[in-house]
Amino acid sequence: MIDQKVNQLVGQMTLEEKVGQMTQISVEALLKTTNGVVNEPHEIDPAKLAICIQQHKVGSILNIGGDAQTKENWQTLIQTIQAMALKERLKVPVLYGIDAIRGNNYTLNTVLFPQQIAQAASFNPSMIQKASQISAYETRASFIPWTFSPVLDLGRQPVWPRIWETFGEDPYLVGELGKATVEGFQGNNQVTDKYHVAACLKHYMGYSMPLSGHDRTPAWIPEREMREYFLPQFATAVKSGAKTVMVNSGEINGLPVHANKHILTDILKGELKFEGFAVSDWQDIQYLYQRHRIAKDNKEAVMIAINAGIDMSMVPTDYTFCEDLIALVKEGKVPMSRIDDAVKRILKVKYEVNLFDNPSGNNKDYPLVNSAEHNKVNYDAAAECITLLKNANNVLPLSNGKKLLVCGPAANSMRVLNGGWSRNWQGTNSNETEKDKNTILEAIQNRFGAANVEYAEGVTFSEEKNIDEAVSKAANTDVIVLCIGENSYTETPGNIDDLTISAPQIALAKALAKTGKPIVFVLTEGRPRVISSIEGLSSAVLHTYLLGNEGGNVVADVLLGKVNPSGKLPYTYPRHPNSLHNYYHKYSETLEFDQWGGFNPQWEFGFGLSYTSFSYSNLKLSSNQLTDANAITVSVDVRNIGSVVGKETVLLFVSDQVASVTPEVKRLRAFDKIELKPGETKTVSFTIDNDKLSFINHSLQRVTENGDFVLSVGGLKADFKYLGNL
Ligand code: IFM
Repeated sequence: MIDQKVNQLVGQMTLEEKVGQMTQISVEALLKTTNGVVNEPHEIDPAKLAICIQQHKVGSILNIGGDAQTKENWQTLIQTIQAMALKERLKVPVLYGIDAIRGNNYTLNTVLFPQQIAQAASFNPSMIQKASQISAYETRASFIPWTFSPVLDLGRQPVWPRIWETFGEDPYLVGELGKATVEGFQGNNQVTDKYHVAACLKHYMGYSMPLSGHDRTPAWIPEREMREYFLPQFATAVKSGAKTVMVNSGEINGLPVHANKHILTDILKGELKFEGFAVSDWQDIQYLYQRHRIAKDNKEAVMIAINAGIDMSMVPTDYTFCEDLIALVKEGKVPMSRIDDAVKRILKVKYEVNLFDNPSGNNKDYPLVNSAEHNKVNYDAAAECITLLKNANNVLPLSNGKKLLVCGPAANSMRVLNGGWSRNWQGTNSNETEKDKNTILEAIQNRFGAANVEYAEGVTFSEEKNIDEAVSKAANTDVIVLCIGENSYTETPGNIDDLTISAPQIALAKALAKTGKPIVFVLTEGRPRVISSIEGLSSAVLHTYLLGNEGGNVVADVLLGKVNPSGKLPYTYPRHPNSLHNYYHKYSETLEFDQWGGFNPQWEFGFGLSYTSFSYSNLKLSSNQLTDANAITVSVDVRNIGSVVGKETVLLFVSDQVASVTPEVKRLRAFDKIELKPGETKTVSFTIDNDKLSFINHSLQRVTENGDFVLSVGGLKADFKYLGNL
């Protein structure tokens, strides 16, 4: 039915109208300004909009990284845009897209969930699905039907400034959580209702592995590794119905991905059978000549990108793309069949987000935006993410009535708690936009009583300020809560040359340690900053990642014991800035480690403590021989042997003993999260089939090779054999 409508519509379109559909312009180019400065609140300039819609027939518009607007401002903007689009000959609505990556984060007074890296620590797909569904609701409430999320890049290079936008280092975990996010954003039907939005898988693919660690610098990834580690999560999300994909801005093996027909057309649209459309990243077609220099001018860049398989160009501020593409089609350099394919894909998504029937929306339909109900889900989500990495002598939880010194540059900042893409591109400008939310300090003051809490910032992230004040205030307190980490950032502004936590924060920790008071580190950071020089000075370490708007409350409640932490690290936390190994490193790395000091990260992938303890027993396999005809059921008993209720993530790893491609020491193949009361035991079961043991061989085929495997769960191990097609 949708295909029929799409074909009919495309059949009526002129070349100019088709190219317009393939063009995405930033709303920044359409806003009224006074003396060159954008008016607040934002208002559409009708003359600029007319150039966009009437002259260039543009089919898509996106957000800017400017000041956050209210829901009502967004609604007016979208209504103004749609009104003009619907006056056009074919009445095709504009598809508006925004970076609503975990909550509608460019709109004021909306829920900001934990960032993706924190969500990953929850190991809880159903919680993530629920959070994504609420994000979709709050985004659609601004009449915006498309979000540029989730990020499915693999978080393997901890220096890279977008690690916090990923689900961490494991491809299986990224795939499962990506699927949950897509299902939450889009819902289950092909056509979304007014509470769901189209997802955008990004950044297809290999974006997260620049050799230098700096954003958008070259990556070198052999095709086998690409298919083994970087592609599967996109395949999973495409299978679950993701409607759009955004392309990697970088270059891999000397070819920008925006020019890579093999990756964009053969693999994505061919092998993965992706039926949605691929949008470029910001200005990335013109960067083919301006930065990468594989084209001599814009026209050649457009030809290369569109022929490679890009369907929509995020231009975003001028119309040269339209002019060049029209000329290229007329000259026979881009076939009309390619244009028709791209336009059909785009129109299909417009039908699938129900834009033709409901181009904007009705404010009355969204009473739950930023409601107590949504904020409760946000609090519960953050409570599942926070990760306890150290708790010497059970210093935590703290009893109420303790006197605390809260200090450090992360203690009193919503900007730091939320990270980038929060109201603004690089993060909230101040605590003002989040007035109804609590920083860590405010939440601790609420929970423990202001009279029991001293505060001294001590240092900023980059400078020593007043360390003496912090030290002297510590004298009157029982425990120091030292909130350190990094300020918010995203993309290139977040590039660093040293993963070590900043020197002023190290100085503050060292000075406070001299007081002899127990110190609880609260690490609020988007990537694992190396803290090995000061970790020994702490009694406890809480990793909050970027917990979002409820983060302060959750930190305070963990300190108080009201929340029992259950997060586990979704990445390996390095001990040294130059020792960056993933948990699934190769056996040969282990040999070297054994000889020269061992694989010795600060904390391993999957590590996380609780206020209770769990014991594992009774690991059973339904058979120790796996064939293509039978799957093995693995079961294990998990018992809460402590005195408080707690949640445990059960991780199942498999180690291939010998393979034609050097196997990793272990790979995560299944996980589940359960809640247990004190003394309670639950049996957790998993299914292992041949597919779960497969890998990409040197001929680039996915295979499972016969042989011996070792499976491990919670420290227990069992052997089995894969015998193939018996
Ligand atoms: O979605 C983003 C992308 O992740 C980075 N460049 C800009 C896009 C649109 O804002």
